[in-house]
Amino acid sequence: MHENRQKLWFAVCGTSLSLLLAIAGAGAQSSTPNASAAPAGPKLAEEEFKNIQALKGIPADQVIPSMQFIAASLGVECEFCHVAHANEKDDKKPKVTARKMINMMMAINKDNFEGHREVTCYSCHRGSKDPEATPIITDEEAKPAAEEEKKAGAAKATLPSAEQLLDKYLAAIGGADALQKITSRVQKGTITVFGGQHFPVDVYSKAPNKRLSVMHLQGGDSFTGFDGKQGWLSVPGRVHTMSAMENAAARIDADLYLPAHLKTLYEKFRVDIGEKIDGHDTYLVAGRTEGQPPLRLYLDKESGLLLRLVRYAETPLGRNPTQIDYADYRDANGVKAPFRWILARSGNRFTIQVEQLQQNVPVDDSKFAIPPPAAQKPSTP
Ligand code: HEC
Ligand code: HEC
Repeated sequence: MHENRQKLWFAVCGTSLSLLLAIAGAGAQSSTPNASAAPAGPKLAEEEFKNIQALKGIPADQVIPSMQFIAASLGVECEFCHVAHANEKDDKKPKVTARKMINMMMAINKDNFEGHREVTCYSCHRGSKDPEATPIITDEEAKPAAEEEKKAGAAKATLPSAEQLLDKYLAAIGGADALQKITSRVQKGTITVFGGQHFPVDVYSKAPNKRLSVMHLQGGDSFTGFDGKQGWLSVPGRVHTMSAMENAAARIDADLYLPAHLKTLYEKFRVDIGEKIDGHDTYLVAGRTEGQPPLRLYLDKESGLLLRLVRYAETPLGRNPTQIDYADYRDANGVKAPFRWILARSGNRFTIQVEQLQQNVPVDDSKFAIPPPAAQKPSTP
C-alpha cells in the first residue's frame, strides 16, 4: 500500500520526483535527501547528494529531472542502475558506465558543437540500452524522396500564420470577451492512472491564475496548487515548494485565460503541419523564446481547438517532455472547456474525466495558499 502510494504519486506528480524521494526516504528510514526541508536557495548537487562526480556543479533540484531524462533515453527504470534505497552506491555496472557516458556526452558537445547541447543520451540510445550501430533494412519500399518533398512543400506554402491560428483558437473557445467573464471554474471528476485505478479528483481555478487540484487517495488527499506566484505539492504530512522549472509549467496550467495570453508568452512562433490526433488533422504552432524551452500547440485544422500541448522541462542532460491531450470540449457559460485531458510523460500517464463543471462560483483565495510549515509533520509509513 505504501509502495503503491509512492508509485501513484510518481505518476501524477512526475515533475516533483524529489518529493517522491523524500517520501520514500521517510518510509525506508534512509537518509535520502528531504526535499521539503531543503532551503529554497540554489544548493548544488554535490552538497545535497552523496556521490556526485559527473554532474558536479548543477543545481541539486536538477539531479532527479536529469535521472528521469536518462531513464527515458535508455528505456529503463531507475533500478537498472541503482540499488534500492541507496542511489549513492556504485554497485551496478550500468551506473558506472552511465557516469562515463555523461562525461563522453559533455566532451562530444564541447569538442564538436561549441558546447551547445546537440548530442544527448537519446541521440544514440533512442529508448534502448543498446544503441544500433548498423542500418536496418526495412520491409517497406522507400517512397521517392523528391515526390514526398514536393507534397510537403506544397502543403507548407499554404500554411496559415501563427497569429491566424491563435486567433482562431481563441474564437473557437468563445472569444476574449466571453472568456474574461469566467472568474472561476470548479470541476469534479475522476482520475485514472496505471491503466485502471480510479480516484475522485477536484480541480479549482480562479482568475487570473490560481489553481488547485485535489486527488482523493485511500491514504489521504494529495494536492497540487498554484497561488498565482508559487506552485506547491502536498501529501499528508508533507509539503513541497516547486522549483523554478516546475513553477514555469504550473503557471501555464493555472492560467484561466491562456487562450487569450498565448501570443504574448513567446517571442517567436513557427507553424507547421502537425500530426493527426484522434483522427483530427492539426496545425502545429511552436512558441519560442531565447533561452527557454519551447511550447508546442497542436490546433484542430477544422474547429481551431487545442488538441495537444507539449511542454519541456530543461535538464543539464536534455529536455523532459510532458504532453497533454485535450478532448470532449463542451459549452459552459458561453465558453468551451475540455472535459477530458490526458497527461503523459516518459513512462507514466493519467487521464482526468470531468463529470461536473461549475463556473463563476465563489472560491476563496485561501484554498490556493501554500499550507504552513506547521502542517508538515513527519509522515508515518
Ligand atoms: C543509466 C543509469 C542510471 C539510471 C537509469 C538512473 N540513474 Fe541515477 N545516477 C546515475 C549516475 C551515473 C549517477 C551519478 C552521477 C554523478 O556521478 O554525478 C546517479 C546518481 C543518482 C542520485 C544521486 C545519489 C547520490 O547520493 O549520490 C540519485 C538520487 C539518483 N541517481 C536517482 C535516480 C532515479 C530516481 C532514477 C530513476 C528515475 C535514476 N537515478 C536512474 C545513473 C542512473
Ligand atoms: C555517441 C553515442 C552515445 C551517447 C551520446 C550515449 N551513449 Fe550510452 N552507449 C553507447 C553505445 C554504443 C553503447 C553500447 C556499448 C557496448 O555495446 O558495449 C552504450 C552503452 C551504454 C550503457 C550500458 C548499457 C548496458 O547494457 O549495460 C549505459 C548505461 C549508457 N550507455 C548510458 C548512457 C547515458 C546515461 C548517456 C547520456 C548521458 C549515454 N549513454 C549517451 C552510445 C552512446
